[in-house]
Parts: sequence; C-alpha cells; structure tokens
Amino acid sequence: MIAVRRAVPEDLDAVRQIGLTTWPVAYAGLASPEFIVDGLAQWWSPEVVERGIRTGITLVAEEDDVLIGMAGVGREEDFWVLWKLYVLPDHQGKGVGKALLDAAVAALPDGTPGLLLDVLVQNTKAIDFYASYGFGVPPVTPARDLGDELQWMYLPR
Ligand SMILES: CC(C)(COP(=O)(O)OP(=O)(O)OC[C@H]1O[C@@H](n2cnc3c(N)ncnc32)[C@H](O)[C@@H]1OP(=O)(O)O)[C@@H](O)C(=O)NCCC(=O)NCCS
Repeated sequence: MIAVRRAVPEDLDAVRQIGLTTWPVAYAGLASPEFIVDGLAQWWSPEVVERGIRTGITLVAEEDDVLIGMAGVGREEDFWVLWKLYVLPDHQGKGVGKALLDAAVAALPDGTPGLLLDVLVQNTKAIDFYASYGFGVPPVTPARDLGDELQWMYLPR
C-alpha cells in the first residue's frame, strides 16, 4: 500500500536518493549533461534537501517502508511553488505522482490562492501530467526570469 506523509529529518538520505536516481533518467535527452550534474549539486545536496524538510513542505510516498516518491513545496515571494516532484522510474504511472500532488495542495495554508511550478519546456511528459491535473497558465508569477528552457504553470485552488 502507498502512503503519503510529511518528511522528517531521518528521511534525508532516502529523499536525496529519489532525486539522484530519478533526475538523470528523467532529464537524459531533455537537457544537457551539465544541467543534470549542476542540478543535482544545486538542488539535491544534503543541505538543500535538509532545509526543504525543515523549513518547507516536503512530502514522501512510502510503499512497504520504502520511499518511492517525493514532493517539495516552498515560498517564493508571495507565492507557493512546487519545487520538486519526483517518483522513482520503476514506480511511475501508478498514481504516486498524483497522490503526492494531492497532498502538496492539501498542505498549503488556508487562503493560498493556488500553486505554481516551473518545468522544463522539453519535459512534455511532466507538462501533460500537470495539465491533466489542472495546471494552466498563471495569472501572475514571481519576477524570476525563467529564460527559454523553463516555463511556469499554475493550479488555482
Ligand atoms: C511526472 C511524474 C511526477 C508523474 O507521476 P506519476 O506517478 O508517474 O503519475 P501518476 O501515475 O500519478 O499519474 C496521474 C494521472 O496523470 C496522468 N498522466 C501521467 N502521465 C501523463 C502524461 N505523460 N500525459 C498525460 N497524462 C498523464 C495519468 O494518466 C493519471 O491520470 P488518471 O489518474 O486519470 O489515470 C513522474 O512521472 C516523474 O517523476 N517523472 C520524472 C520526473 C519529472 O519529470 N518530474 C517533474 C519535474 S517538474
């Protein structure tokens, strides 16, 4: 059975392992090897993942005591942003991503108007997944310039 819960500090290594395993598979062919190496160093370091667990909202999907997916949500300006959503390759397409997203939306504070995310424009599988969930074009975004490689999406709540 799959259960989704808030991550605790003891989950640090298992959460990192989801990123280190899933990121290279997901982005092979979509992004440069440098993007993958830099992204793992920048977003999946022990410090960054630990901070996400401590100060943001990190959720994990667990099957038989093994972590198989994670979602990370945090603040950017006045917005709530889904920073990360990763399901181990062998466990994709079985409802785990949807369960994590449901939990991430439910974890937002009352009164939050919606949830933003940024996604690689080349990552059409993820974009289609988010669109089928209800994400569309945001009415307003943080000032951060995403460049040509990334795009914002928004789920009104
Ligand atoms: C994208 C990702 C998080 C989705 O999680 P998942 O567990 O594979 O997806 P789910 O099984 O929960 O799919 C839920 C629903 O979305 C639909 N869906 C999934 N992938 C889809 C796609 N490529 N196109 C359209 N719909 C899709 C499913 O059909 C399902 O719909 P249903 O409930 O009506 O059957 C996961 O595949 C993943 O980790 N991918 C690699 C990493 C990545 O790209 N992460 C996003 C970074 S921004």
